[in-house]
Amino acid sequence: MKRLNGKVAWVTGAGTGIGEAAALALAGEGATVVLTGRRRGPLDNLAARIDGPTQVQPGDMTVSAEVDGIAAFIKAELGCLDILVANAGLNIPERDWSNLTAAGVDTLIQGNLCSAFYCTIAALPMMRAQQDGLLIHTSSVAGRFIGGLSGAGYTAAKHGVVAMSHSINMQECVNGIRSCVVLPGEVETPILDKRPAPVSAEDRASMLRPSDVGDLILYVACLPAHVVVNEVMISPTWNRGYVAALGRRGQ
Ligand SMILES: NC(=O)c1ccc[n+]([C@@H]2O[C@H](COP(=O)([O-])OP(=O)(O)OC[C@H]3O[C@@H](n4cnc5c(N)ncnc54)[C@H](OP(=O)(O)O)[C@@H]3O)[C@@H](O)[C@H]2O)c1
Repeated sequence: MKRLNGKVAWVTGAGTGIGEAAALALAGEGATVVLTGRRRGPLDNLAARIDGPTQVQPGDMTVSAEVDGIAAFIKAELGCLDILVANAGLNIPERDWSNLTAAGVDTLIQGNLCSAFYCTIAALPMMRAQQDGLLIHTSSVAGRFIGGLSGAGYTAAKHGVVAMSHSINMQECVNGIRSCVVLPGEVETPILDKRPAPVSAEDRASMLRPSDVGDLILYVACLPAHVVVNEVMISPTWNRGYVAALGRRGQ
């Protein structure tokens, strides 16, 4: 008997990176995984690699009607939603005030913050009816600390995700609902391709692997219902920000 047998987990941003790793980890423990992203190809590819029940449900999480449609599918076809991993997110290369545009801000806030709100709003009615449910939100260390790498829009949106997750616990704990916000440092995933400056292979090799975060998400998902991990930060030991600061100190 696997620990998540009979559980339904909806993972957004499941086609690549952290979401892919989380879906694999959750499925490996027996969960039925619902895989969402905008592109069907990576989701179909992932589903083919999972030895267990999967549902491929493509959708754009910045469009609330599409989010609601997938939630309705889950309710109708699977009957419950135990775990939501609201992980879809993005960044853009234009991160400085000198090149940030209104359209860029829309992309960042919609893609990182509104999407998490829409998924949460869609998931909570099912979880309230069950008086049980776990939400796991992928924020970022940029959601806790303000640095120079991630850009103002991404940093603001990820701070919003942290605030949102804590507010869920404050109001929904009486309904048996738990929310955990995960704050990763640098993870070697396709999002790095959106950095303004290319990231070297050596730097990528020092970063977290997607499976490191996927395993953390699985750990949180397997905790008993009376336990909530409110917030957790995970970063590579060779933290490039810390290493750079050490270098400056020596100058
Ligand atoms: N890698 C890092 O260093 C790092 C650090 C801290 C936090 N994070 C966060 O971790 C999460 C996962 O990112 P990742 O690093 O794994 O990068 P990734 O491989 O680029 O994954 C992001 C996923 O989200 C999906 N997605 C993006 N916008 C979407 C939308 N509107 N609707 C549905 N799906 C959408 C993408 O697929 P489609 O393009 O097919 O939609 C993609 O599969 C993000 O929230 C990111 O901000 C990453």
